[in-house]
Amino acid sequence: KIINVILSGGVGSRLWPLSRKARPKQYLPVFEGKTLFELTVERNQELASKVILVGSVQNKDLAEPFLKAVEHDIIAEAAPRNTAAAIAFAAFHADPDDILIVTPSDHLIENQEAYAEAINQGIVFAQEGFIATFGIIPTRPETGYGYIEQQGNTVLSFREKPNEETARDFLKKGNFLWNSGIFCFKAGVYLEELMRFEPKLYATSEVAFEYAEDLILDEEHSMQIPSKSIDYAVLERSDLIKVVPAHFNWSDMGAFDSLYTYFKEKGYQEDENGNIVVGSNKHTVFVGLSNCMLINTDDAVLVLERSRSQDVKQVYEQLEKEN
Ligand code: GDD
Ligand code: MG
Repeated sequence: KIINVILSGGVGSRLWPLSRKARPKQYLPVFEGKTLFELTVERNQELASKVILVGSVQNKDLAEPFLKAVEHDIIAEAAPRNTAAAIAFAAFHADPDDILIVTPSDHLIENQEAYAEAINQGIVFAQEGFIATFGIIPTRPETGYGYIEQQGNTVLSFREKPNEETARDFLKKGNFLWNSGIFCFKAGVYLEELMRFEPKLYATSEVAFEYAEDLILDEEHSMQIPSKSIDYAVLERSDLIKVVPAHFNWSDMGAFDSLYTYFKEKGYQEDENGNIVVGSNKHTVFVGLSNCMLINTDDAVLVLERSRSQDVKQVYEQLEKEN
């Protein structure tokens, strides 16, 4: 059986005020009226016969409307314990021979045909007992991604979130790809590697999953699990990693600069200076400003210069402190 494991953690603080705790970014209907979550489900529907969603309890209500047409289970986390554990829950829930296509729910991917082709190649590697990753050609020395040193489909090394100097070095060398955050493997293979490299994380996740009721985890057992991502826990260490070079358009909708690019491509631009308005139909005029975004929601307005997109996280954190 082929299962799409959808990870839905995180608030998306860099997309405040569009993204809120009560409605994280993957549930915003701003992509031609669709949400990133919905697009994720649709994209994988032809490839997998079931969905396992792993995320906080609030995801249940938000996700259900988009899961009506597919067989699915929802694993509700009591606390976010990062991706190594989130994926382990799905793997414990599946059969060891089931193939898991693990996808984030907050990426925008265009070109379905290229996507399906890449995943199908990943499924072949998964059937052979490998852990397949999907590599994107890097365009800047981004420090927020993982880097895959490759030779064809062979992975020479995996480096999660290098510093800028190292990232520049990787780009210069030329045989490094960005890790897209999508993975494909047999549930049992992942669990074996996790057990080998992170025995405590494995054991505590297993216990927490055993104590879950109706796939709802409890806080007591969850808090025992070390918080580590799959990238540090398994990908940097395993010898079973393969990479499929991806030929689809991929963007991680982490911050407003990615949204900006998307809106601009779709022609939502307000004026010739590249200013963009989101969430309002009011006639808006920007004087003396260029490459700015005005984000309007029911109770908050954000005005942002595009190049400062990463700073929105601080705004969110400051507001959290005040509340
Ligand atoms: N259910 C659940 N529980 N999901 C989680 C948790 C958790 O505790 N933590 C993170 N996630 C989900 C996020 O919502 C996201 O969809 C995905 O897992 C990846 O987590 P991020 O926190 O966004 O990771 P990242 O962006 O720092 O890095 C990862 O993605 C990059 C590409 O976007 C890594 O895999 C990098 O190597 C990769 O380049
Ligand atoms: Mg991310």
